[in-house]
Amino acid sequence: MTLHQRMDSVKRSAISDATNLLVRTDYGRRILLPQYRYMFSPEQLWSLCQAAESVLPLGGAFAEIGAADGRTTVYLHRHLEKKGEAPTYYCIDTFNGFTSEDIKVERARGKTDNYAESFFNNSKKRFQRTMKMNGLDRTVVVQADAATFDYSSLPPLSFALVDVDLLRPMRAALAGCWDRLLPGGILVVDDCDPSVNIWDGAHEAFVEFCEKQGLPIDIRHEKLGFASRPLVPDVEKEV
Ligand SMILES: C[S@@+](CC[C@H](N)C(=O)[O-])C[C@H]1O[C@@H](n2cnc3c(N)ncnc32)[C@H](O)[C@@H]1O
Repeated sequence: MTLHQRMDSVKRSAISDATNLLVRTDYGRRILLPQYRYMFSPEQLWSLCQAAESVLPLGGAFAEIGAADGRTTVYLHRHLEKKGEAPTYYCIDTFNGFTSEDIKVERARGKTDNYAESFFNNSKKRFQRTMKMNGLDRTVVVQADAATFDYSSLPPLSFALVDVDLLRPMRAALAGCWDRLLPGGILVVDDCDPSVNIWDGAHEAFVEFCEKQGLPIDIRHEKLGFASRPLVPDVEKEV
């Protein structure tokens, strides 16, 4: 064995010993052992990918309203890259969890949950770092309140994942993204499951939105609401 090979073998066994030591701790297990880290089940992620892929030919931008730490952004964006050129992908979030105005609305709806404890520990900078580390250079990261954001500042959209959980921002995001949605474009709305008490504002906003727009209430895989803007009728063919 050469000196170089011996050094390599010492290095490998030191790494292996350190790993074995670390996984004896909670923290070590959390960072080193494989885990499922998505907020969607595999079939929900697959359904998102299929919907997103189907609207690529429309050529519009994509948006994720409520992007948290970017795990779904990375997954979906990667999938789109494999299908051709990924579209410009807008990621909008407070990166600081729920706003007090939104929580107030939930309190008025009778909710007592501790919303302030969820999603407060994200940051725009870390999100951008995640995008860079994953080589995703078509994302535009916007730190904003989805309830008051000016959606007319977005380009025409072919796809939006609306995932801001509570009634007030969901209402605004649905209306705003719908206004920007191209004919044939798709909105996917998370948390449309009325049996999950803490997030049922999302379901209420989706049902209200569908009724207002005269759309069917299309909920798939337990909690994903789907809304598609009808294609403009081909007037020439109809004549
Ligand atoms: C369920 S997480 C989004 C998960 C993400 N789509 C994913 O799949 O990984 C909900 C996100 O909505 C954000 N959010 C909640 N209320 C918001 C508001 N009014 N404006 C912007 N973002 C908001 C939270 O900060 C949180 O990151």
